[in-house]
Amino acid sequence: MCGIVGVLGNNQVAPLLVESLKRLEYRGYDSAGIATVNDGALDRRRAVGKLVNLQDLLVHDPLAGKSGIGHTRWATHGEPNVKNAHPHATARVAVVHNGIVENFRELREDLAAKGIGYETDTDTETVALLTQSFLDDGMTPVDAAEAVIARLEGAYALCFLFQGEDDLMIAARKGSPLAIGHGEGEMFVGSDAIALAPMTDKITYLEEGDWAVLTRTSVEIRDAQGALANREIRTIQIDTTSVDKGGHKHYMAKEIAEQPTVLTNALGYYIKDGRIELPDPGLDFTQIDRLTMVACGTAFYACLTAKYWFEQIARLPVEIDVASEFRYREPPIAKGTAALFVSQSGETADTLAALRYCEGKADKIVSVVNVPESSIARESDLPLPILAGREIGVASTKAFTCQLTVLAILAVKAAQDRGELDADGVARALDAIKSVPAMMSQALALGEQSNAVSRKLAEARDILFLGRGPMYALAHEGALKLKEISYIHAEAYASGELKHGPIALVDEHVPVIVMAPRDALFDKTISNMQEVMARGGRVLLITDAQGAKEAGPGVWDTILMPEIDPFVAPILYAIPAQLLAYHTAVAKGTDVDQPRNLAKSVTVE
Ligand code: F6R
Repeated sequence: MCGIVGVLGNNQVAPLLVESLKRLEYRGYDSAGIATVNDGALDRRRAVGKLVNLQDLLVHDPLAGKSGIGHTRWATHGEPNVKNAHPHATARVAVVHNGIVENFRELREDLAAKGIGYETDTDTETVALLTQSFLDDGMTPVDAAEAVIARLEGAYALCFLFQGEDDLMIAARKGSPLAIGHGEGEMFVGSDAIALAPMTDKITYLEEGDWAVLTRTSVEIRDAQGALANREIRTIQIDTTSVDKGGHKHYMAKEIAEQPTVLTNALGYYIKDGRIELPDPGLDFTQIDRLTMVACGTAFYACLTAKYWFEQIARLPVEIDVASEFRYREPPIAKGTAALFVSQSGETADTLAALRYCEGKADKIVSVVNVPESSIARESDLPLPILAGREIGVASTKAFTCQLTVLAILAVKAAQDRGELDADGVARALDAIKSVPAMMSQALALGEQSNAVSRKLAEARDILFLGRGPMYALAHEGALKLKEISYIHAEAYASGELKHGPIALVDEHVPVIVMAPRDALFDKTISNMQEVMARGGRVLLITDAQGAKEAGPGVWDTILMPEIDPFVAPILYAIPAQLLAYHTAVAKGTDVDQPRNLAKSVTVE
């Protein structure tokens, strides 16, 4: 993961670097650092933990210079400490890196043969050491960087800064995204365009294997074969306003509360005059025989939910997989397959690699993304925006329900195209989807219920989530949300699967959260709930008032939901899942928006 930035500026760059790093902190917050060249002198500052620690350090120990690079780290090799923090530097070069240099041990051995030792636990340090050794051999900075890049295996976005070179920066990408920003007599490099948004809207995206030599007034890009490459300068539109918490205690709370609004935006984009409209070039499901859906984490659970929808209402066979497994299975992609990738960030390394695996094999590459300028969006035949707006809390909330909404609409479109739903059926399904924002507002208004029960959940060491059908997918999302921000161990099971083993875990210390809208499987879910209660399990039942009545007495607690069309219940029931996780985390006093060990965008395998 990690975020990188570089600036060849006309003013002191340290504040600009820090500002950009703030916008990249979603990529990791284990440590942060910057390096500058000031009248030829290379120097750096680094601090462990969040960016604010680097800011504090810079107040007491400022760093001058109009050329600089910066880094925010999500540790891969080596624990988060100052020694392992980027930039990694020698006397003559400083380097920031996003990705993993897979052959770093081999490079270390080569360096050792030259009498050069290493001091950190990182893979990146070898890049700096190797560059220095080539410089010491008499190479120019450009030749040295080119020679180093040729030796690297793995994934990288890199930015080099050289001692004695106030007007030179070298950037390279393979596997990790990198954007170049063009200013007026200034040049910028960033992991994404958002990082550069306050400085410029003129962006060139480097392509795989590209490396670029930058000065304040020029950019020379070469491709992996060393040939000069002409890459487009695009003017992009990015919201540069800083995002505040809107009066909420956490971004996550704000993002949960925003869901009725952002869902309404998505509905307005895709449903016009009662008809589904997809952006160009559209998708004709009469030409599609099967769907392969791939994603990670929460986005994967959106796929798992949508599998039920596509199969039940459109009779379209769906295969789903987590992206980190998908390509290594080497799945055959049959003719007539549409491959669909779901990603909030649009930069998740495994999802992007899965997309690339499907290129040339699938009939159509579709993505459901929140960041329209992202790599996954740019590499798809049909990127479908979810219009959730910036999501800052590391735990995904509004992006999940927007993903579900877009996927539900797509499933209805598939059912329509394939003749599985007639006009009335389509209208009913769209009405159900359109009813969700108002229902969500009601569910949010009932937030106090989850707040009260969360104080009890916060005492638990283990929690189980149960659901059937699409609610099984949502049970997974509920468990993921809870564990990532409250650090309580939580697992999800299909209600009917519990008796095949996991029921052995049930006792009075393990709360069992049962997600049971009154759908076709309600009675079966309630039977499974009774099995839990018969073994002393404490059940928190999430259902509507009639469901609670039908379920009978004996539950530990209940969260009462508005009545909803079962088709869209997974979208609505995401609200209590999110609120339970949020309030439990608050009760435990964890770092809700930036939970330990995580990052918002996972750009390494
Ligand atoms: C959990 C969460 C993650 C992401 C996953 C994929 O709350 O946010 O599980 O869903 O890392 O990220 P994207 O959607 O950016 O591909």
